Amino acid sequence: MNPVQALERQARPEIEAWLKETRPEALAELYAAADQTRRAEVGDEVHLRGLIEISNRCDRQCLYCGLRAGNDTLTRYTMTRGEILACARQAQAYGYGTVVLQSGEDAGLDTDLISELIQTIKRETALAVTLSLGERAISELERWKAAGADRYLLRFETSNLELYAAIHPGPTSHQHPRVQHLRRLRELGYELGSGVMVGIPGQTYADLVNDLLLFKELELDMIGLGPWIAHAQTPLGRFPERFLVEPEEQVPASEDMVYKLIALTRLACPGSNIPATTALATINARDGRELGLQRGANIVMPIMTPVQYRRLYEIYPDKACADESSEDCRRCLTGRILRLGRTLGSGRGDSRRSITTKRLAC
Ligand code: 5AD
Repeated sequence: MNPVQALERQARPEIEAWLKETRPEALAELYAAADQTRRAEVGDEVHLRGLIEISNRCDRQCLYCGLRAGNDTLTRYTMTRGEILACARQAQAYGYGTVVLQSGEDAGLDTDLISELIQTIKRETALAVTLSLGERAISELERWKAAGADRYLLRFETSNLELYAAIHPGPTSHQHPRVQHLRRLRELGYELGSGVMVGIPGQTYADLVNDLLLFKELELDMIGLGPWIAHAQTPLGRFPERFLVEPEEQVPASEDMVYKLIALTRLACPGSNIPATTALATINARDGRELGLQRGANIVMPIMTPVQYRRLYEIYPDKACADESSEDCRRCLTGRILRLGRTLGSGRGDSRRSITTKRLAC
């Protein structure tokens, strides 16, 4: 069955077979279909989202993430208001359409400070503002929306609640906490970004099929997909064997697996924005971004964080672009986009769903 039919019919075994596919001709067919759908649905423009990693402090203990509170080898930082605004102004000067304010789940980040930053960026620039600050209180999410925030990025990481709970210590719940959060964010009027890591120890092919179907059900505006990368200062990085499932069921954290998922996600959610992620560029620095962009992706997220902080935002080791300046990232990524024959996006790069929804609301 071709992948589009498999996805339309939610035919789980067939979707799983595509995820397990290794024959070069079949994969070439999958990638060509994804690239064609990308071109037809979201065009040749590649939108740039300037990523500002505003704080690496985190109160959580996620088993995969280098920013986890328990990692006491990491020097912690919080950018000042002035530094954050300078980055946002730079993003505007570069012609980017969006800034993303990202941090660990840092209760020390003051609600009013974030509100004021959003208001100032919205007043002074034409940028869309995306927040990626973790599972914050609904009252804060309301305040930030009212302050002018446009989008929220919160990966659900895996739709398998048992695996999710195993790698996210915290109160137990019968519902997926981040999926619940995403539904609330949608009700508040945010454009929604989410996504998963590919190849988490313990993640099965059946889980990944469910993830794909959940992307569709949630009508996500943006879907970020990257490989899980072992971090030596995390339990998952140190003891993956404690989590791994049977070899035939365990999803590998491989580059090819990420491309297959990007391609299937493009076919499942044709109008969504899909980034070629930094994690993908980390496992293939030479042409990971390019291959992502040629197999379904249409977004890149150049890092804008000041050089002195970059190495400290170490979610995983050897992160791509960690030693570069914002200007280096701009030059490198725009070069890569143009060499593929693609164009630089103009405007904010809102998702098709959000544009249609706004039009209907008028
Ligand atoms: N490997 C790959 N991706 C990771 N992230 C966090 N830790 C890792 C890791 N070790 C991803 C998560 C998170 C995003 C900001 O970074 O998906 O949502």
